[in-house]
Amino acid sequence: MWCEFNFGHNTLGELSAKALTSEHLAALVAIEKRSHLTAWSEANFKSSLESHHVVVGLLDSTHTLLAYAVVSLVAGEAELLLFVVDEALQGKKLGTAFLQKIIEALQRSKKAQAFFLEVRAGNVPAITVYENLGFNQAGERPNYYATPWGREDALVYALDWGFEFGLND
Ligand SMILES: CC(C)(COP(=O)(O)OP(=O)(O)OC[C@H]1O[C@@H](n2cnc3c(N)ncnc32)[C@H](O)[C@@H]1OP(=O)(O)O)[C@@H](O)C(=O)NCCC(=O)NCCS
Repeated sequence: MWCEFNFGHNTLGELSAKALTSEHLAALVAIEKRSHLTAWSEANFKSSLESHHVVVGLLDSTHTLLAYAVVSLVAGEAELLLFVVDEALQGKKLGTAFLQKIIEALQRSKKAQAFFLEVRAGNVPAITVYENLGFNQAGERPNYYATPWGREDALVYALDWGFEFGLND
């Protein structure tokens, strides 16, 4: 499967990514609650696991879930619906490394020629990761997100590799 890959992290050691299943629901919900401003519920994850979405988990050598992404793949376009690193591990370049590997896996698989995402305008760490990996802002949705301190715009980002891989021929 396209989302299976391994890589080493300088402090966390050998990590492996794979598609998650319903047996990971409890871990997903626990990390979501402590790590994300607008946490997905168990029902949200169940619905993703039962749909065409791919729920990719990043695990350490003890099979502990460290991070995850939910990716939708439709008609040659990938969309990053959710991307979370467990709170205690944020800011250690894990998100950058994980998303870089997801992009490379998608490119190798030729399942998509572009990758889209939406991010809250005030989410500086996430925007930094996306821009560092080459995503460009492609649009915005004013007042899209409700936060505890009021509404915030959503920024739409895109990474397009269709020409590089000859998928537009
Ligand atoms: C967004 C998220 C996935 C990024 O993963 P991460 O492992 O923490 O990110 P990294 O450590 O790889 O990179 C974070 C970058 O943001 C920068 N950064 C972090 N906090 C920052 C701040 N307050 N101001 C400016 N830059 C900041 C870091 O310096 C780093 O950039 P650099 O590599 O150029 O130094 C993670 O923080 C997370 O799970 N957040 C909560 C859920 C979320 O918001 N997900 C995204 C939804 S679109």
